[in-house]
Amino acid sequence: MKAISFEGSPWGVDDEPGRNRLRQRAQNLFGNNAGLIEGKTVLDLACNNGRMAYGAFQAGAASVTGVEIRDELIEKGRENMEKAGLTDRMKFIKSDIFEYMRSAEPGSFDVILCLGFLYHTVDQVEFFRECARLRPETVIIDTSVAKNYFWFGRRMFGKPPALFLVSYEDPSETRNTFDADGIVYWPSTSYLEEMFRRTGYVPRRIPYNGKTVDDWDAMDDYRRGIRASYVARLKA
Ligand SMILES: C[S@@+](CC[C@H](N)C(=O)[O-])C[C@H]1O[C@@H](n2cnc3c(N)ncnc32)[C@H](O)[C@@H]1O
Repeated sequence: MKAISFEGSPWGVDDEPGRNRLRQRAQNLFGNNAGLIEGKTVLDLACNNGRMAYGAFQAGAASVTGVEIRDELIEKGRENMEKAGLTDRMKFIKSDIFEYMRSAEPGSFDVILCLGFLYHTVDQVEFFRECARLRPETVIIDTSVAKNYFWFGRRMFGKPPALFLVSYEDPSETRNTFDADGIVYWPSTSYLEEMFRRTGYVPRRIPYNGKTVDDWDAMDDYRRGIRASYVARLKA
């Protein structure tokens, strides 16, 4: 385990709830899984301004390639990485994540990160197929999820079906989808787990509880179970 902190970094978010959320996420995703990240070549999909890549560096990542579709976020990311003295180990690529994944060679990355993205798209299947083709040893995802509370009768009891919730968001907001119609799907946790298994990975859900979160400010979605994170390992 490694302690992750954004204090004094160029990613120090202005408001305290945002700062807490960033730290809690990075601690659970990377700090508590440092053994899987240390010395590894990492691909960070939808990397925004490199804030999560900074967390991965603190957990010991050797290098990070960040893929992001919005120019202004990449610009900010480059500026921040320079201030943090990480320019040599961080490469930003302006691209749609799916285009980039299709162009990459299998085996180029040890770890693929897909954080805060899988509910801003309708192409979840493509993501899992491309992960299977690229075959990193570890995939880490973090996403808002649709709850598995649908009742499909006794036959399905205890086997929540893999589902999507259709939603819409404003593509002019920089944190959202880049697709002009704003249509997105929220996957259920059953969907994520099934897709990992079908593509040759063993998923483990990262717990967010009293033992792993020391401050719940701005973490309500994790507490309510409508946000979920997984570490998935390539099946031996
Ligand atoms: C909610 S932010 C997540 C940022 C960061 N990964 C995190 O977890 O904090 C979603 C990011 O996805 C980017 N994005 C949206 N659609 C994209 C696409 N098709 N390809 C690459 N990036 C995309 C947005 O510009 C935004 O930076």
